[in-house]
Amino acid sequence: MKNNAIIQINKRYWNANADSWFGSTALPEYGVKFITENELHLFGDVAGKVMLEIGCGSGHSLKFHAHRKAGELWGLDLSQKQLDNAKKFLAENNYFPKLICAAMEDECGIPKNYFDIVYSIYAIGWATDLNNVFHRIASYLKKDGIFIFSWKHPLHSCVILEDGEFIFKKSYFDEAWYPQIVDDMEIMLPNRKISTYINAMTSAGFIIENMVEQTNECTLQMNGEIDDKSRKAQKLPLSFVFKARKV
Ligand SMILES: C[S@@+](CC[C@H](N)C(=O)[O-])C[C@H]1O[C@@H](n2cnc3c(N)ncnc32)[C@H](O)[C@@H]1O
Repeated sequence: MKNNAIIQINKRYWNANADSWFGSTALPEYGVKFITENELHLFGDVAGKVMLEIGCGSGHSLKFHAHRKAGELWGLDLSQKQLDNAKKFLAENNYFPKLICAAMEDECGIPKNYFDIVYSIYAIGWATDLNNVFHRIASYLKKDGIFIFSWKHPLHSCVILEDGEFIFKKSYFDEAWYPQIVDDMEIMLPNRKISTYINAMTSAGFIIENMVEQTNECTLQMNGEIDDKSRKAQKLPLSFVFKARKV
């Protein structure tokens, strides 16, 4: 399937389901049952920083940085419905970032060599052409600018818990795009190896400063009970975070 056809399928999903994802997967959370920005402090002091979020969704991570006095905030998202929700939510909180409706793969007028920090919370995995997206992100950053992103860990998709047993149901090496039905609609995603992200970052001119794969132990028990997701999070990372610097 061509990249543009994949983007259109995913765009339809996000436009139809934006409301049900309102406020989920946003800073200080990097992912479910994952250590948060409150412990990691990867962003440091963002006061006065010029920042861009890729796949900004409902704008909750933008609000997180606005509240911490970021100097200028931009958000890009594929879904106009997500951006409508973000605009309303942020305006209600008296924040007015610049919001752009476009695919992260596309040229969309974002200035080059302009941002101190580009970040993305659970959106980079949707990129149809990872190398192209990372080159674009590098072009938006000033020299020494920071790129931080989180996404689902590939091991999470490879391993299932069945009758108390962990089973490898999918090859870690299989990076093919595959359809999934979510909320009765089709989405398309690949399961990329960690080395694919690392190599795409280095070829775009980043050096990696940090990679985090740490479960948040405090989230594992709910009323003394441990559910299957928590059992999995005890054994393997469900998400990962990278922090890289443009050289
Ligand atoms: C899990 S949500 C991110 C939520 C966001 N971090 C927040 O704070 O609300 C993923 C977002 O990625 C966007 N997305 C998916 N594919 C995209 C693409 N190719 N280009 C830009 N955004 C995309 C979706 O529209 C969706 O809003």
